Amino acid sequence: MANNPVGPLPPVHGGYSTDVAHALNQASYAPLFQQVFGANVFQTGNEANVDALAGQAIAAYEASEEVNPFTSKYDASANARPPANLYPFTASEENGRQLFFGKAQCFACHSSAPLDSVSSVTAGREVFTMYCYANIGTPRNPNNPFYQETDPTNNPNGYNPQGTAFIDYGLGSNPNPSPGGVHFMTNTPGDIADFRGLFKAPSLRNVDKRPSADFVKSYMHNGVFKSLEEVVHFYNKRNIAVNTAGEEVAFDLRVGPPAGYTPLFPAPEVLDNVQNVAGLTPSESRQGEADVATNGQIGHLELTPDEETDLVHFLETLTDGFIGSGPEQ
Ligand code: HEC
Repeated sequence: MANNPVGPLPPVHGGYSTDVAHALNQASYAPLFQQVFGANVFQTGNEANVDALAGQAIAAYEASEEVNPFTSKYDASANARPPANLYPFTASEENGRQLFFGKAQCFACHSSAPLDSVSSVTAGREVFTMYCYANIGTPRNPNNPFYQETDPTNNPNGYNPQGTAFIDYGLGSNPNPSPGGVHFMTNTPGDIADFRGLFKAPSLRNVDKRPSADFVKSYMHNGVFKSLEEVVHFYNKRNIAVNTAGEEVAFDLRVGPPAGYTPLFPAPEVLDNVQNVAGLTPSESRQGEADVATNGQIGHLELTPDEETDLVHFLETLTDGFIGSGPEQ
């Protein structure tokens, strides 16, 4: 795969399915796999089937309570489906919730779509993603070590021949077609404009979960943001520039700010398909605006500093482990 931006795939010995079946057969949990799928599951000739069954096992684990316990403060509140009413939200958390599902428009990408395949597993609970793809204008992360991995010998699996010129086109660099047969690139990453810069909207459940209070998390596909405060500020002011007097002006990312003004955030890594690239406010954009470039989602939300804080407090209610460990604040 000459154009694979992440470098050569690991060596394949007997074909992909054969490798999966072989690795599973050798694993310490192979007897458990046989218990579920039959004593003869590892028979020669059954490799492709083992591969598919491994996929089923992973899906069952991901859908299980072990991965998704739904034990956050949100799930213990009147907002849960069905409402739980155990712990009321603070005024700030509640205001953040209303902003999330209202003025700040986060729900447009980060709330459950009515998909039967999802709700049959979640019993209708909110998953905080529509599983949609969008370009929110995430800037490059210059500290990403991948930019330095230009030596194929030292970086056999992360070899980046382009060095700092590398551009992450997201979905637009996926060489595999969708189950429905849609191709996201033709020959080189990013060669189909419609898919450039798109990333999947992740679930926001556990977005504040961390092993210890002082643990620094990284957000977005490239880890460019280091706190939820920074993320929310980005959503609020991506399209804002300031002058030396501290005056703010909104600008179209395709045009750049007026003279004398400096953008608050670095430019998007990929400018194609950026949501609300024009920087309209939600009220400036026409209701039900279908044009991604002017839909008023992201970049110029006109949130006050208190409203930004409220949104962060709301995101913090989505961390599992609240029920059982009791109220933490
Ligand atoms: C147009 C769709 C869209 C809207 C509207 C939107 N998001 Fe996102 N969100 C995304 C996408 C896509 C990503 C992943 C981007 C990436 O990886 O570069 C993301 C990533 C995030 C992340 C990082 C998650 C992680 O684990 O790294 C947070 C936090 C987040 N969004 C919060 C919000 C909040 C809060 C709002 C409302 C102010 C919001 N989003 C509005 C699509 C959207």
